[in-house]
Amino acid sequence: MLATQRNEVVNLQTDKLAHMFHGDNATYLREFVDASVNLIVTSPPYNIGKKYEKRTSLDRYLAEQAKVIAECVRILHPNGSICWQVGNHIAPNGEVVPLDTVLYPLFKQHGLILRNRIVWHFGHGLHCSKRFSGRYETIMWFTKTDNYVFNLDPVRIPSKYPEKKYFKGPKAGQLSGNPLGKNPSDLWIIPNVKSNHVEKTDHPCQFPVELVERLVLSMTNSGDVILDPYMGVGTSIIAAIKHGRHGYGCDTNKYYFDIAWDRVLQYRSGTLKTRPMNRPIYDPSLPKGGH
Ligand SMILES: C[S@@+](CC[C@H](N)C(=O)[O-])C[C@H]1O[C@@H](n2cnc3c(N)ncnc32)[C@H](O)[C@@H]1O
Repeated sequence: MLATQRNEVVNLQTDKLAHMFHGDNATYLREFVDASVNLIVTSPPYNIGKKYEKRTSLDRYLAEQAKVIAECVRILHPNGSICWQVGNHIAPNGEVVPLDTVLYPLFKQHGLILRNRIVWHFGHGLHCSKRFSGRYETIMWFTKTDNYVFNLDPVRIPSKYPEKKYFKGPKAGQLSGNPLGKNPSDLWIIPNVKSNHVEKTDHPCQFPVELVERLVLSMTNSGDVILDPYMGVGTSIIAAIKHGRHGYGCDTNKYYFDIAWDRVLQYRSGTLKTRPMNRPIYDPSLPKGGH
């Protein structure tokens, strides 16, 4: 039982699966009892001066992240996972600091175990003139113990050659691949949410729902608890409730918080548009209907 369910905190919106708090995650995380969350999935600010963050020194930023990470580890269930999705911090002199490299020790110091460093490749972003344009970010997936939930079947993707068969040996003639599809690997090609994406809101860097769905389906079971301490417009919560999990999240920005709750209401009324998992990437070189 989470303390938030006793309604001790104000600025809450809740229904049977979605639970949202408008306010700072330092306040919100304190309300969760130890080992009560199965999956924490989030994308924190990158300290690059986006409109929802105040740029500060890298040391100060890391000290803030360390506090949030420590709380996340405290409330993580022993079978649970943390997925921290980050890109680059760009220093004032233009130097690129890959945030996963500097955040990794903050997880390791709590004994967390890295299972994958997933590369998320996407097609749209800034066109740089003094370096190559950035078209990937990463998700660090950590578990608390060696006994963790991992369900591969719900997230398998279509095999390239589903009809391929063993051509010799005792299994000759049988299908060689898994009929449910193949492991999606640690390279995920998923469109990011830019202007013509069906999920686009006013948030400058929201998750695509399908990206979080893959984490939810593989790392949790039905009825589990998922938390996003920097929820933005609530994408992680949408992905959670879409699959019968409890979704918890908070954001300091009231405008994003209101959009997040509105998305839950749209989801409940069947009007929220989301890009389906595993839809092929649009390729203008293919004939119409060919993707
Ligand atoms: C990169 S965005 C996350 C977007 C989110 N993944 C989505 O799909 O919309 C980071 C969010 O963290 C929020 N934020 C920044 N500091 C926070 C804090 N201390 N507590 C809670 N939210 C915070 C910002 O307002 C911003 O919406």
